[in-house]
Amino acid sequence: DTTVFKFYSDGEWKKSTSGKLVSIINPTTRKTQYKVQACTQEEVNKIIEAAKTAQKPWAKTPLWKRAELLHKAAAILKEHRAPIAECLVKEIAKPAKDAVTEVVRSGDLVSYCAEEGVRILGEGKFLVSDSFPGNERTKYCLTSKIPLGVVLAIPPFNYPVNLAVSKIAPALIAGNSIVLKPPTQGAVAALHMVHCFHLAGFPKGLISCVTGKGSEIGDFLTMHPGVSCISFTGGDTGIAISKKAGMIPLQMELGGKDACIILEDGDLDLAAANIIKGGFSYSGQRCTAVKVILIMESVADTLVEKVKAKVAKLTVGPPEDDCDITPVVTESSANFIEGLVMDAKQKGATFCQEYKREGNLIWPLLLDNVRPDMRIAWEEPFGPVLPVIRINSIEEAIHHSNASNFGLQGCIFTRDINKAILISDAMETGTVQINSAPARGPDHFPFQGLKDSGIGSQGITNSINMMTKIKSTVINLP
Ligand code: G3H
Repeated sequence: DTTVFKFYSDGEWKKSTSGKLVSIINPTTRKTQYKVQACTQEEVNKIIEAAKTAQKPWAKTPLWKRAELLHKAAAILKEHRAPIAECLVKEIAKPAKDAVTEVVRSGDLVSYCAEEGVRILGEGKFLVSDSFPGNERTKYCLTSKIPLGVVLAIPPFNYPVNLAVSKIAPALIAGNSIVLKPPTQGAVAALHMVHCFHLAGFPKGLISCVTGKGSEIGDFLTMHPGVSCISFTGGDTGIAISKKAGMIPLQMELGGKDACIILEDGDLDLAAANIIKGGFSYSGQRCTAVKVILIMESVADTLVEKVKAKVAKLTVGPPEDDCDITPVVTESSANFIEGLVMDAKQKGATFCQEYKREGNLIWPLLLDNVRPDMRIAWEEPFGPVLPVIRINSIEEAIHHSNASNFGLQGCIFTRDINKAILISDAMETGTVQINSAPARGPDHFPFQGLKDSGIGSQGITNSINMMTKIKSTVINLP
């Protein structure tokens, strides 16, 4: 059966001894598209053992050789962009062109990571003792960066390939081994990506990909004593993981409620274009999506009209046709989004378009005159519905943005750079974009969330550093 996929362990493709499979439902057809193995805890144990064994010689493999293999994997990944993109279309309803972009971006990320790794891991520090009071120059300290061991990578459904390689590549270049647990929606795209690493010729056991039910292997993986680091991107599960995980480094990117603040002097055409791109790309299913518009009352009508005109031009339909708005990932997600919309309706929000839904497909919707008592003012829809809150001062905008339990990104539209910097400083988010929509990339930029939006910082350089430890050797002179 070509729709059933094996998991990857110790350099081989295997069926689970559980004899059970997990179904992947196509969000567009709402029918089973693929099936993956429901792995057992015993299989997880074997994978982690193999990862521990493979990591030791890998850490001693010359850095340039590790980089060479990563470059090879990146090239193979790009060659395989069409079939991987096809999986993304079928599993997560990503628009066809965006699906290809995700794979190409992933190849570029892997190559950049190899280059950055040889630079930053190729350097250490040399310190002398007599700069600290009371010391003579009798001690020389040499530092280098050493790997952590086994890195557990858990990417989300919205970038099953890109947010997997953004964890895999830094881990590998730094000398770690990798255990990947892909999301169910997107698992086949991730398995295909892993196949590219397999073809590149990485040692057996160094990379594994375990599929299955979170209820069976989720906690077992994240609490496993063989795991030395967890890099997770996703939702609330990350908070639960961080409470249960052992004393190991964690890298977490959770949700966001990114605000788009528009001042009176902002370029409203630029803001409207960025609201469309930021709010509706991949139907709003991005952690960095614009999730609330905070607009000065005096320019609100004009801005809303501009955004409405652009929303009317968005194409709605299947991802195969490369429509702008495609079905959201699951029926429960669509139901959740609908719940937020109905709450806003009941509490008096102005609907700029008619609310329309067919199956998992929700038409783009702008909700004006949203007030803080509405759930959509605070909650993350992860769908193509966008609230507008009218404000009367900069302080009000900052207050609303900072009252969120999230703190991923935010953006400001103004022609006054001084105001922009002051607002950026006041916003409690990991990144603030001036005159553009929030975004993670370019992928070497630091990427981090404050508060419930995450732990640690990502971006290629930060991820490599996070997946290493400093090791010192001190030479004591007689
Ligand atoms: O969904 C979370 C991603 O990190 C967002 O990445 O800004 O490239 O869409 P993006």
